Amino acid sequence: MKKIIVKDNLEGAKVGFDIIQEGLQNNSLKVLGLATGSTPESLYKLIRESDLDFSEVISVNLDEYVGLDATHDQSYQYFMKENLFNVKPFKASYLPNGANLDAEAECTAYEKILSENPIDLQILGIGTNGHIGFNEPGSSFDSVTRKVELTPETIEANSRFFESKDDVPTHAYSMGIGTILKSKKIILFAYGENKAEAIRRLFEEGVSEDLPASALKNHPDVTVIIDEAAASKLS
Ligand code: PGA
Repeated sequence: MKKIIVKDNLEGAKVGFDIIQEGLQNNSLKVLGLATGSTPESLYKLIRESDLDFSEVISVNLDEYVGLDATHDQSYQYFMKENLFNVKPFKASYLPNGANLDAEAECTAYEKILSENPIDLQILGIGTNGHIGFNEPGSSFDSVTRKVELTPETIEANSRFFESKDDVPTHAYSMGIGTILKSKKIILFAYGENKAEAIRRLFEEGVSEDLPASALKNHPDVTVIIDEAAASKLS
């Protein structure tokens, strides 16, 4: 894993932006894997304000809450439209459909989309518990897209976006760790002091299902972009 420490999320976004721009320029970026949450917001803002053209690029997202349809303002479909797609349309954009309560059908369909559109570059954040996508601690490194139960820590962390903790969905459809590892290139961003412990464990502890992000050490092309606060516990 390559580690880049930046001053703040604006500087981090710029590093990610340059990698995406290069991929578009040299035609190696046909399928872009996207993430939601606070972390990629600065990157999406830079992209929105740029002249980058994604009309020939396909996007696939990591995950979606089960039970929220695309019109719900906390669905990831809604987030992506607001933060990126309304301004930068892609050739096609895929997210799991949270409104489809038939988990097996939905996850099988999503894996088929991913196998037909292999990811060239996947953007990731990291949870305070080390999750990537909604692959919580204990997730198998071979896992594929499936319905997952969110941990109390994740529900707590995400409750800031909902009226109350009880409104946070308890389940999500998430690409698996195995699915994510198939991406040709991966960039993980981590900002803020609340990510410092997960980042310390990522760099200073071994590979273990207790820390889902540690699976990335088994991948040949991962860049971890962290701000000074998230790097503050690194020795
Ligand atoms: P955040 O979430 O970007 O909102 O901090 C990251 C994650 O949980 O993967």
